[in-house]
Amino acid sequence: MMDWSDRHCRMFHRHISKHTWLYTEMVTTGALVYGDVERHLRFNEEEHPVALQLGGSDPADLATSARLGEKWGYDEINLNCGCPSERVQKGAFGACLMAEPQLVADCVKAMRDAVSIDVTVKHRIGIDDEQSYDFVRDFVGKVAEAGCTTFIVHARNAILKGLSPKENREIPPLKYEYAYQLKRDFPDFEIIINGGIKTEAEIDEHLKHLDGVMLGREAYHNPYVMASFDQRYYGDSSAPKTREQVLEAMIPYIQAQLAQYGPLGLKLNSITRHMLGIMTGLPGARAFRQTLSDSKKLALGDAQLLLEAAARLRITA
Ligand SMILES: Cc1cc2nc3c(=O)[nH]c(=O)nc-3n(C[C@H](O)[C@H](O)[C@H](O)COP(=O)(O)O)c2cc1C
Repeated sequence: MMDWSDRHCRMFHRHISKHTWLYTEMVTTGALVYGDVERHLRFNEEEHPVALQLGGSDPADLATSARLGEKWGYDEINLNCGCPSERVQKGAFGACLMAEPQLVADCVKAMRDAVSIDVTVKHRIGIDDEQSYDFVRDFVGKVAEAGCTTFIVHARNAILKGLSPKENREIPPLKYEYAYQLKRDFPDFEIIINGGIKTEAEIDEHLKHLDGVMLGREAYHNPYVMASFDQRYYGDSSAPKTREQVLEAMIPYIQAQLAQYGPLGLKLNSITRHMLGIMTGLPGARAFRQTLSDSKKLALGDAQLLLEAAARLRITA
């Protein structure tokens, strides 16, 4: 998720769940072909399994970018066919690619020829006022001809004109049944559902029909929801870290990052901003967030602020 699932956020999430797959922000092919590759692709070894999401529509540039992703050690390359933003539309990629399944197939083929890791596609169920299930079925069918067998389905339309990206995550209705039907029509493919999913009960229900579930906003705003995933979905018998243990585990990481990239390049808040939601649902969560959002304290650049914030929570609770 742009501006959210950066390497610091992913590192934090990895301390909550060891096995859940993590996805990068969308990285455009332009940023990789013409920009600072290291800045866009560096990540922490601990983040595995981690997928690199690419945005683009030129098969050759996508192949180059996928190759870079594999070289940097990513575990999967995912192509964004779901982003509705104006900027992305100007670049003729993201959700508008759903209108061009043959081009997406060409892109997937070029990437698959370039790398040996999985190439997957994240898409919507339709664009604009297209309501028929056949549209997404034909899209998946065409892209599958290029060898893609994993589809992450954000189960609502993208409205390309008139809605902001935020509205595009809220207003078009969710139609989970379309994703379920995809699984029935393509039983051999891995179909992963996304959109509006928050609780374990909801995840369990989807898993009766599908192969996987992707959480976006809930994983960000309430990251500790992932604490039970290793045991529940990956058969791991070790106890999850407590919230405090997660915070403690982040301290050496933050200190090392600040030592390497601070004081001008990286600020404490660039990492801790992703952690504000870890106490969501607990009494005192607000006091925790307040302490961790205090600009004077943040300016000191001391990662122990996490523990100070957690202590405030205990006092308030
Ligand atoms: C701040 C933000 C940035 C996002 N950036 C991306 C992105 O880069 N690539 C992508 O495929 N989806 C992106 N999304 C969409 C989410 O991945 C997800 O599809 C959407 O929020 C619906 O799932 P949710 O209800 O679980 O959040 C973004 C969402 C948010 C809130």
